[in-house]
Amino acid sequence: MCGVVGYIGHRQAQANLLESLARLEYRGYDSCGIAVLDGSIRVLKDVVRVADLAATSEPLEGTSGIGHTRWATCGEPNQANAHPHYDCTRNIAVVHNGTINNHQQIKARLLAGGHTFSSDTDTEVISHLIEENYQGDLASAVRATLNQIDGSYAIAVIHHKEQDKLVVARCGSPLIIGLGEGENWVASDVPAILDYTKKVIFMEENELAVITRQGVRLWRDGREISPEIKEVEWTAIQAQKGGHEHFMIKEIREQPRIIRESNSVLAHSGGSDPGLIEILSSNPPPTILLLACGTSYHAGLIAKYLIQELLGLSVHIEIASEFNYQRHRISEDLGIIITQSGETADALIAMRSLRKEGMKLLVITNVPGCSASRLADETWYTRAGPEISVAATKSFTAQLKVIYGLLLSSSRLDRRDRDRLTGAFRHLPSNIQQIIDNHQDIQSCGKYLAGYNNVIFIGRGLNYPIALEGALKLKEISYIHAEGCAGGELKHGPLALLSAETPVVVILSRDATYEAMLNTIREIKVRGAPVIAITPARESDIDNLVDRVIHIPEVENLVSPMLNAVALQLLAYYTALERGCPIDMPRNLAKSVTVE
Ligand code: G6P
Repeated sequence: MCGVVGYIGHRQAQANLLESLARLEYRGYDSCGIAVLDGSIRVLKDVVRVADLAATSEPLEGTSGIGHTRWATCGEPNQANAHPHYDCTRNIAVVHNGTINNHQQIKARLLAGGHTFSSDTDTEVISHLIEENYQGDLASAVRATLNQIDGSYAIAVIHHKEQDKLVVARCGSPLIIGLGEGENWVASDVPAILDYTKKVIFMEENELAVITRQGVRLWRDGREISPEIKEVEWTAIQAQKGGHEHFMIKEIREQPRIIRESNSVLAHSGGSDPGLIEILSSNPPPTILLLACGTSYHAGLIAKYLIQELLGLSVHIEIASEFNYQRHRISEDLGIIITQSGETADALIAMRSLRKEGMKLLVITNVPGCSASRLADETWYTRAGPEISVAATKSFTAQLKVIYGLLLSSSRLDRRDRDRLTGAFRHLPSNIQQIIDNHQDIQSCGKYLAGYNNVIFIGRGLNYPIALEGALKLKEISYIHAEGCAGGELKHGPLALLSAETPVVVILSRDATYEAMLNTIREIKVRGAPVIAITPARESDIDNLVDRVIHIPEVENLVSPMLNAVALQLLAYYTALERGCPIDMPRNLAKSVTVE
C-alpha cells in the first residue's frame, strides 16, 4: 500500500531510486515519482508504471533523493496527486505511505494562512507544515510536524538547503534503512534494497532518523538511541523473476521446494522449545482466537477446522477488520494472527488492542522483522521467501505448513493423526510437483473458463475454505466474478444463478462429504451449468458426470487443501493468462494493505 524509497550515496540517485521502486510496485502502482537533490530539488512523477517513468524520464544529476509508488487513497490517481509532494516554495519534497486523519482541518488552516495546494492528497499537508516549522534544521521541522498530525505514516523528506541528508520517520507504516559503505537507503520493504545490501535497521514505531552518506542517527519518542543492525536472509535472486513469465507462476512453482525445506522445520517443531505452543497442550483445554485478512483468513479457516477436529479445542475465527468493531469480546487463551506481510493495518490494530487486554499472541508471518512480529509474544515464520505477485500463492501453502507444524507440536494430537500427517508430508512436495508438471488439463480448463463472466466454486469441510480461496484467486487476477460457497449452501441461494453461462468448480474430498457432493453435482448438471471437478486421481467414476476433470494425486485427506490450493492457483493463473490480464499487478489491488 504505497512504497517509499530513498537513497543517499555516491551513485546517481535516479537509477537507484527507480530500481528500488520497481521492486516495491507490488505495494501499489497507480502512479510513481522521484525527487532528486541536485543543488535544488528536481521532481519527476506521472500516472505510469515505474518502468515507463524510467524509460521516458529525462536524466537527473544528483546522488541523493526519494521516491514513491502509489496506491491511491486520498485523491484519485492523477499526476498532481502522485508523490513526491512539495511545499509552496518547492524547497521541500515528501513521500508518504499512510493516512493523515486530521488533514482537512490542517489544510483549512494552512489555506487561510496563504498556503496554496497543488493536490487533493492528505500527504501534501506534511510538506506545508514542514515549511511552516522550518527554522534551518530539517529534522527539527519534521519532528514538530509529526506532533501536529494524527494518523499513520512512513515518510521520507528532503530539503534543498540540506543536500546531505534524508529525514525519515515511521508510525504505523513500515520503514527500513539499508546500510552500505558511504551510501545508505530507506525503503518500505526489504526487496527494494536487496540488490545493494543485506544490513538493515528495522525502524520501530515513533522513530525518526537522519540518514547521511556516513551513517544514521535514530531517535525514538524524541530520545536518541543506537540503531540495532540486522542481517537479512533473503537474497536478491529470490526477489527476481528468474526466467519465469510472471512472479505468480514462479511463486507457484516454488511450492514443492518450500514444503520440502520445511519438513525439517515441522520435525523440529515438536522439539525442545515449544514456547507459546505449549498452550495448545495445556489443561483445562485452552480456547483459541484466530484473526487474519484475505487469503490468510482462508488459511485461518483451515486452521480452525484442523485445531477443532484434531486437538478438540474450541476456536473462534474472525476477519481482523470485523473483529476491530466488535463491542463484546470473549477472552480466549491464545490469539493466533496469520499475516503474510505482517503489515496489514487491520491485523495490527487488532493485535494492539489484544495486547492491551493482555492476551498472548502468536503470529504466523512471512516477513522477518515485520510489525506483527514485533507486537507478538512469539513468531512462527513461513519461510516462503519474498512473495512479489499481489495474489498470494506460496505464502498460503507455507501458512498451512506452519499450521500443521503447530498441530504436530501439541501433545493433544493423537498418535494415529500424527502418523497420518507426518506420512502425508513426506510425499507432499512430489505430489505438488506432479500437479505443476501435469498442468495441461488445468491450463485447458483455464482457457475454457476465460470465456465466462461468472464462476462458482464449492467445497465442503476442509476444502470449503479452498473454494473461497479458489474464487478469490480467480477474481483477483482474471477479473471474472467468482463466488466461493459451501457445497451444502448452494441450494440456499447461489443455485438461482446457475445456467449454461455459469460454470461451477467443485472440489471433492475423499471423506464423508464425497457422496453428498456427487448429489450436488447432479443438482448442478440438471440446471444446465457446466461442472469442472477437482478430484483425487482414483475417483474416475465422476468423469462421466461432469464436463471437465482435474485429477490431483491421491493423498491423505487432511493435507488435501494444499494440493487443491495449488491446482486452483494454476487455474486462476491460466485463466488470467488467456484473458491477457496483468497477472502480477491486478488493477486496484496492493499486496500489503497498510490502511484500515
Ligand atoms: C491483500 C493481499 C492479499 C492478502 C491480504 C492479507 O489483500 O493482496 O493477497 O491475502 O492483503 O494480507 P496479509 O499480508 O495480512 O496476509
